[in-house]
Amino acid sequence: MRISLNTAETIRQQMNVLEVVEDFLSLKRKGNNWWAPCPFHNERTASFSVNPAKGIYKCFGCGAGGDAITFIMEHEQLSYPEALAYLAKKYNIEVEYEGGSPDEHRAELQARESLLIAMEYAKQYYQKHLYEHEDGRIGQSYFKERGFLPQTVKHFELGFSPAAWDAFTQHALGHGYTLETLIKAGLSSTNEAGKTYDRFRERVMFPIHNLAGKVIAFGARLLTKEAKQAKYLNSPETPIYHKGQVLYGLYFAKKAIRELNECLLVEGYTDVISLHQAGIKHVVSSSGTALTVEQIRLIGRFTPNVTVVYDGDAAGIKAALRGLDLILEQGLNVKVAVLPDGQDPDSYVQAVGEEAFRQYLDTQATDFITFKTALFLQDAGNDPLKRTEVLREIVQSIAKIPDAIARAVWVQHTSERMRIGEETIMTEVNKLLLKAAQKQSAPTPESEAPEAPPLPKPPEEALPSALLQQERENIRMLLYYAHYELEQDLTLCRYFLQEIADLKLQNPIYQKIADTYKQYLLEGEVPVAEVFLTHPDPEVRREVAILMAQKREVSNNWYEKHEVYIPKDEEMLGSLVYRAILHLKLRHIREQIRLNMQALEAATTPEAQDELLQVAMALKALEKDIATFLGNVIMR
Ligand code: CTP
Ligand code: MN
Repeated sequence: MRISLNTAETIRQQMNVLEVVEDFLSLKRKGNNWWAPCPFHNERTASFSVNPAKGIYKCFGCGAGGDAITFIMEHEQLSYPEALAYLAKKYNIEVEYEGGSPDEHRAELQARESLLIAMEYAKQYYQKHLYEHEDGRIGQSYFKERGFLPQTVKHFELGFSPAAWDAFTQHALGHGYTLETLIKAGLSSTNEAGKTYDRFRERVMFPIHNLAGKVIAFGARLLTKEAKQAKYLNSPETPIYHKGQVLYGLYFAKKAIRELNECLLVEGYTDVISLHQAGIKHVVSSSGTALTVEQIRLIGRFTPNVTVVYDGDAAGIKAALRGLDLILEQGLNVKVAVLPDGQDPDSYVQAVGEEAFRQYLDTQATDFITFKTALFLQDAGNDPLKRTEVLREIVQSIAKIPDAIARAVWVQHTSERMRIGEETIMTEVNKLLLKAAQKQSAPTPESEAPEAPPLPKPPEEALPSALLQQERENIRMLLYYAHYELEQDLTLCRYFLQEIADLKLQNPIYQKIADTYKQYLLEGEVPVAEVFLTHPDPEVRREVAILMAQKREVSNNWYEKHEVYIPKDEEMLGSLVYRAILHLKLRHIREQIRLNMQALEAATTPEAQDELLQVAMALKALEKDIATFLGNVIMR
């Protein structure tokens, strides 16, 4: 028994060296690489580096190095097949086993090799036909009409397939290829009568390359708009081609994608080619299939930043929406650029040129919230019902993001943009997460799954200010996790109070709670939250009871079920507290900015104005620093 080549290939496609190593080491990012002390030799400094774009790790101290598979083999002391099995498990890949001797293994490798050779042969045949045969002219003039320059046609190895019924097959048989291989490669077919014919006839040929640049399939386009046939005919699934795992153009784009740390995702072959010709090379297409998870992971090996560039028609927008959620789900950052109606990237770049196309992306590509808001809010104005729908759409997307901190950031963005409380949004996100988690742990029939409760309408009356909400969340955190030891001898409580020592909380009740914690700390104690339930101040008792009750509401085995409500480990909690404190500071600074502006408006003397302006500038700078820092923490 051994793992099939097919499975091994799938694993190689999907594995990401950073994700694999991260399970064992705590890595820190510097530039394109991630660093840690080397696990393979004894050291205190970090000479071990991981380069996710290249898919490799390397130690500058002891020379260890390799890819995700060798890392697992060496770190876990596993054999090659065991390491593969480990990775398959990690990536949820179903493992196909095959019986068979090493001889059979070799035979299979040879069979794949022969398919690759046949594809290479076919590629050359179609190219030759394009340039050297009479009817190849039609193909050449087709490319010319489409605006493809001769060097572009060469670069992408485009070709033309003859009209005759079996010209290619006969030619290949004459050159020693077996019919079995040709059929297996998806180049030839036989009909019921046993007659052999070419799969691709009288079409322009777009070879599809694997990452190593070998041709593994073809897309073939009709020259005319004949009604009866499909515009594109593609290779079938073969042992060397699994269309859901391939991105058209990636071989040509990978260098640019790494360099620019971004990948444009378009719909068609011709979009990729035209953009390349215009000098925009970090572009791939999922041609021939709806975007798959495997394809997104493939992009993730080169960059975490994807911009979806789709047609402005209804179909394009629908595809963009679907792609966007899938991309978020894989933990990548996504932007969306929708082209003017009636244009696809191919036609648009040919019409406006490189500069204008880049500028269009720069100005029009938006994050998913803006995209969804614009799409669904088009003429909703302030209609609360419409706003609720938009919110639901956005919450759906946020819930797809695997990283809790990134989710929290998007919740905050949404809150600011839609002027809806962060807590309201987070509650909705968590509901979806919980639902998804339940679905995963116990696959119940659809009918039993409870309907999602409707989102609350955004309240008409003024919401509590963002500042007050932030204060509440911070106090809640304090009540829940005061005892947590962030480091040895540093409780969350002490850290928290030190950090906010210079702030006066706007809500006097929260200030009282913080003060009570301080008093206890002076005596070397951290009070449990229950202490507040017997606090002399009835308002404090009431507020704490409410905050704690909300915890109980979600506490039904929340710990096992979900990491959402409670961070899993201390490290996580540490960064969350830090974030929470910074958010609180940010809110307070914004409040000071507001008050300062009021004072400035009321100021009568130039001296007073001057002084207030100085303050305003200092506050603004501080605000920017904190906001930037929060942004940086989140984006990793
Ligand atoms: N496609 C396909 N089969 C079809 C139609 C489309 O496989 N019958 C795939 C092709 O990979 C195509 C992509 O979907 O490139 C996008 O389709 P479309 O936008 O219709 O084609 P374009 O790439 O724009 O091609 P062209 O400009 O030549 O019409
Ligand atoms: Mn097109």
